[in-house]
Amino acid sequence: MPVEFDGEYWAEHYHGRAAHGVRQPTVHLVTEVADLAPGRALDAGCGEGADAVWLAARGWRVTAVDLAATALERGRDHAGRLGVDVADRIDWVRADLTTWTPPGDTFDLVASHYVHSTVSMRTLVRRLAAAVAPNGTLLVVGHHPSDPHHHGQPPRAAEAQVTAEEMAAGLGPGWDVLVAGTRTRSAGGGPHGHGGTSRDAVLRARRRP
Ligand SMILES: C[S@@+](CC[C@H](N)C(=O)[O-])C[C@H]1O[C@@H](n2cnc3c(N)ncnc32)[C@H](O)[C@@H]1O
Repeated sequence: MPVEFDGEYWAEHYHGRAAHGVRQPTVHLVTEVADLAPGRALDAGCGEGADAVWLAARGWRVTAVDLAATALERGRDHAGRLGVDVADRIDWVRADLTTWTPPGDTFDLVASHYVHSTVSMRTLVRRLAAAVAPNGTLLVVGHHPSDPHHHGQPPRAAEAQVTAEEMAAGLGPGWDVLVAGTRTRSAGGGPHGHGGTSRDAVLRARRRP
């Protein structure tokens, strides 16, 4: 049976396991954001908030959105332990990205990593792209269809496995695609750790002024 990546699935996902002890930002975020000046960021499908916290610690003002209340609580706790400078820069928002409309044309960075939802990644990209400010950056990362780590779903589930080209198809006119490809990473530990090598689809695009 295909897996439905709905609220029930993600609530169960977080209830079923303890919080991640090691909280590292995703490698693609660290790589792609290094050359950007801090501004306003949306972390869409933030999970336990490792990326949101990392951005806030570097001066970004972050809106961190997720469906799962447990994940958001863990993120808030994590940020709180790092002190008010970090905690005060993050707004934690419980919302469904398939229906919630972020403020349009607002964020200097919209980042979304490994979000499996009930809509296709192409649709998700289209929704997220609308929130990016002129000159802003959209960074979306998904599991490539050849990746061994699939949350148990059947092969080629459009909501969970994707190529960068499929994601880029969700962009309208007015974008420069800076990165669209497949990257491998070691998945030894942290939130995405399953001990092997992962293959990710990475899309980075800049909205034209
Ligand atoms: C695999 S986790 C990735 C979390 C985080 N981005 C990371 O890289 O560690 C996917 C996250 O997407 C969230 N998610 C899935 N569908 C969503 C939706 N429709 N709206 C908001 N969040 C959603 C889940 O609750 C979960 O926290």
